[in-house]
Amino acid sequence: MKKAVITGASSGLGYQIASSLIEKGVKVINLSRTECDLNVTNIKVDLSNHKSTINAIEQVKKDHHDVDLLVLCAGVMHRHFVGDTPLEEVDSDFSINVSSSIKFTDGLISLIRKNKGDIVIVGSTSSFVTYGETSVYNAAKHAILGYIKSLQVELKKENVRVIGFHPGGFQSQLHIKAGSDLNQKELMDPKHLAKLLMTILELPRSVQVSEIILDRKKAAIK
Ligand SMILES: NC(=O)c1ccc[n+]([C@@H]2O[C@H](COP(=O)([O-])OP(=O)(O)OC[C@H]3O[C@@H](n4cnc5c(N)ncnc54)[C@H](OP(=O)(O)O)[C@@H]3O)[C@@H](O)[C@H]2O)c1
Repeated sequence: MKKAVITGASSGLGYQIASSLIEKGVKVINLSRTECDLNVTNIKVDLSNHKSTINAIEQVKKDHHDVDLLVLCAGVMHRHFVGDTPLEEVDSDFSINVSSSIKFTDGLISLIRKNKGDIVIVGSTSSFVTYGETSVYNAAKHAILGYIKSLQVELKKENVRVIGFHPGGFQSQLHIKAGSDLNQKELMDPKHLAKLLMTILELPRSVQVSEIILDRKKAAIK
């Protein structure tokens, strides 16, 4: 790994992944609305906005020919019962959780191919099971799982690894911003998740971990 592009490294899991990569000497480019305060290059982007997303992809392509790791981690979750969803939020949430990852992958695939790199897409346990009150989020995470699987089929014969990374509940701003009453102390520590991702990325390139699901073991969390 030489240079990584990460969406959503200003906070939460993306921040911990960026921190772990920096420790390993990898140069990190963060894409989010607010800056990541680690030693990274920040590119400002609003992933709910098509033009902003395309501009950010073009900037990466122009300035960073040596990118060999793409981590698509940015995400947003809102809680509404069906019938109460602000309808403009549907497109915006899909754009951040699904479409922007497709656009980044498509836009940067030539660099990743050239540099024999890896693509990590952060889904969720919500890619496999559904929870009440977060139907748009669940639908988006199921959709991104479909994209990950399609990519793995398309790139099967190429030296590009596609890793679907699917955690359960961990400590971050996501649930807080969504107004969830989940106790943060009962959630996983994103540092542990980032540590596991480093191990996966450091495996020989002949090994692709296609799908990793990290369930929260609530009974063991003090
Ligand atoms: N926390 C959990 O329990 C959990 C469980 C399973 C999966 N996940 C997934 O893990 C990933 C990371 O989430 P997190 O829990 O670490 O949440 P977080 O702390 O809220 O971080 C979300 C990141 O996404 C970025 N982002 C959100 N909206 C954006 C926008 N419009 N444009 C650009 N960037 C945007 C944020 O940056 P700015 O606000 O600076 O733009 C931030 O860096 C997400 O894909 C989430 O679905 C989370």
